[in-house]
Amino acid sequence: MSQRRLFVTTALPYANGNFHIGHIMEYIQADIWVRFQRMQGHAVNFVGADDAHGAPIMIAAEKAGKTPQQFVADIAAGRKPYLDGFHISFDNWHSTDAPENHQLAQQIYRDLKKAGLISTKTIEQFFDIEKNMFLPDRFIKGQCPKCGAKDQYGDNCEVCGAVYAPTDLINPFSALSGVTPVLKSSEHFFFKLSDPRCVDFLETWTQDGRLQPEVANKVKEWFSVRENADGTKSEGLGDWDISRDAPYFGIEIPDAPGKYFYVWLDAPVGYLASLKNLLDKRGEDYEAYMADPRLEQYHFIGKDIVTFHTLFWPAMLKFSGRKTPDKVFVHGFLTVNNGEKMSKSRGTGLDPLKYLSLGMNPEWLRYYLAAKLNAKNEDIDFNADDFMARVNSDLVGKYINIASRAAGFIAKRFAGRLGDISADGNALLSVLRAQSDTITQLYEFREFAKALREVMLLADRVNAYVDQNKPWELAKQAAMDGRLHDVCTVCIEAFRLLTIYLKPVLPALGAEVEHFLKTGPLCFADADADASLGSGHAIGDYKHLLQRVDIKQLDALFEAPAQEAPAPTAIEKIAPGGEDIAPAITIDDFSKIDLRIAKIVNCEAVEGSTKLLRLTLDVGEGALRNVFSGIASSYKPEDLIGKHTVMVANLAPRKMKFGISEGMVLAASHGDEKAQPGIYVLESGAGATPGMRVR
Ligand code: MSP
Ligand code: ZN
Repeated sequence: MSQRRLFVTTALPYANGNFHIGHIMEYIQADIWVRFQRMQGHAVNFVGADDAHGAPIMIAAEKAGKTPQQFVADIAAGRKPYLDGFHISFDNWHSTDAPENHQLAQQIYRDLKKAGLISTKTIEQFFDIEKNMFLPDRFIKGQCPKCGAKDQYGDNCEVCGAVYAPTDLINPFSALSGVTPVLKSSEHFFFKLSDPRCVDFLETWTQDGRLQPEVANKVKEWFSVRENADGTKSEGLGDWDISRDAPYFGIEIPDAPGKYFYVWLDAPVGYLASLKNLLDKRGEDYEAYMADPRLEQYHFIGKDIVTFHTLFWPAMLKFSGRKTPDKVFVHGFLTVNNGEKMSKSRGTGLDPLKYLSLGMNPEWLRYYLAAKLNAKNEDIDFNADDFMARVNSDLVGKYINIASRAAGFIAKRFAGRLGDISADGNALLSVLRAQSDTITQLYEFREFAKALREVMLLADRVNAYVDQNKPWELAKQAAMDGRLHDVCTVCIEAFRLLTIYLKPVLPALGAEVEHFLKTGPLCFADADADASLGSGHAIGDYKHLLQRVDIKQLDALFEAPAQEAPAPTAIEKIAPGGEDIAPAITIDDFSKIDLRIAKIVNCEAVEGSTKLLRLTLDVGEGALRNVFSGIASSYKPEDLIGKHTVMVANLAPRKMKFGISEGMVLAASHGDEKAQPGIYVLESGAGATPGMRVR
């Protein structure tokens, strides 16, 4: 077979947090495939990078008191322990904020413009007058226009699931400053995806067999104009808004001062930028590499980012005159112990660094995930019991066991040298060798679970051979020396073959086996009969190659951090005061809320509102605060004047219809206001003075 040239990537993770186990799963899947290709003798460049740009990262950096550049550099600095720890063999790790990416993204944009596929349009968007910036949907909150739920995001309601525009929200406010956003118009740049050239191209590109069937079917729906179940209309492919206004952490749009590329425009360009950076470092020519007609390009991604990779990205590449991906491999989501889909930013469940710090073997996880992964975009669950069973009974019990049963005899009885193999042994070994093609195909098509099942079936056959021949009994019979040597040699050769088949999944173990067998790096061609070690080959001393999983490690891995209260059981779970106790927080979470004693120096009704009272509060700051509170149904203004209460003193000021509210006073009410009406303002114990902190 001639050598293939492969350019492989995983999705580029947002640089606003550490990796979680979902990221690691994606990297392990891609890494197994890449290592398999390298073991086939193919030339692979496997690259990743941090996705550095966008409003959320800019805002997170500001909160952390860092420049966005410093913020993403700090995140990037934490990547290595994860990648090394789980044996992820990226050839390069770069950043979408690197100069290569600025240049490439701007060049692609210029090429698209030349092709007549960029247009501009003035659109109206919410603007935060205090922060002086347009607000991304996620940073606008308000009441759901459908169900009325409070505190919902600008793009969809987490209570009823409705999808809407931020301008549909009732009483919208900026999640950054609390002020009511105003509508402001601005010119935006669009990639004309609705252009017939794009539509024609994508209809073919997405349906020509390069995508997984379930992905291709889903993508097909996006092309059609149709009526949805809820009466709204889907428009088919619409033009894609690719610009954002300053301030924005991103790449400047050429010849458009104050305009930046939307993060998803430059993010996939980061694949090319990381590759270019790698080739430059090696002194290779990027343009020539990309122009090679033999080059194959593959992206491993999760199912949540399919649109970007099967519509926007191929269209950007095609119409800027570049090579499009050969395939996009979409995987499902990893859940932990039947947990919910991990939140992208929080990543709950299984902390990868904690796993490593407990001394758990990274190859256990690689093996376990591989044993569950297939070519479909199905979700998979990490289950602790299943994990322990598969590693201990299959990996250690079936595979490692073969070496440990034979190695001692070879060392002690035959001076570490292999012997001759008789007919029955050769028959067994040819069964093992004959599966090489099948296993190769399964790896190629990312059917890792099936590949490992084949390998374990072979291991079963080898173990059956050991049980039939009982080397431990042969060892007791003086006349059976030759047979003992034969049987143990078969075991070692079988173990070598199984190691080849498992090496894409277990690279570090593979290297230890190579050391033990005194052989060079194993590749798939070494499964041929004429590549066997042969009689007389000296092997090294056997040290136990792989420990079993200890249940204590799993207990420790999933043990909740000390401060987290245990979840109440179903029976104990009652809803005091008409609502469930909120999820546990840490003392650090609590200390973010600055509660102070406040003296109510004045209180008056608010004209035009039946709910609100206007409070004037003294928090000992030398200046008084104005706070609106929805307590008019329970208090007359004069009831409250002179009292000492508790207020949230560091709540972002919020612009309301009647003025700006500079904090919040604490009051109790039942979860079901209708069943149990009444609001009760907190009062402090005698002696507390304005400004004292409540903790
Ligand atoms: N920055 C974008 C991708 C840009 S690609 C040019 C992004 N980043 S992400 O950090 O949110 O996700 C990175 C990858 O991790 C995506 O492929 C995503 O699907 C994957 N996963 C995130 N959570 C996951 C699981 N729980 N399970 C498996 N993969 C998951 O999206
Ligand atoms: Zn709703």
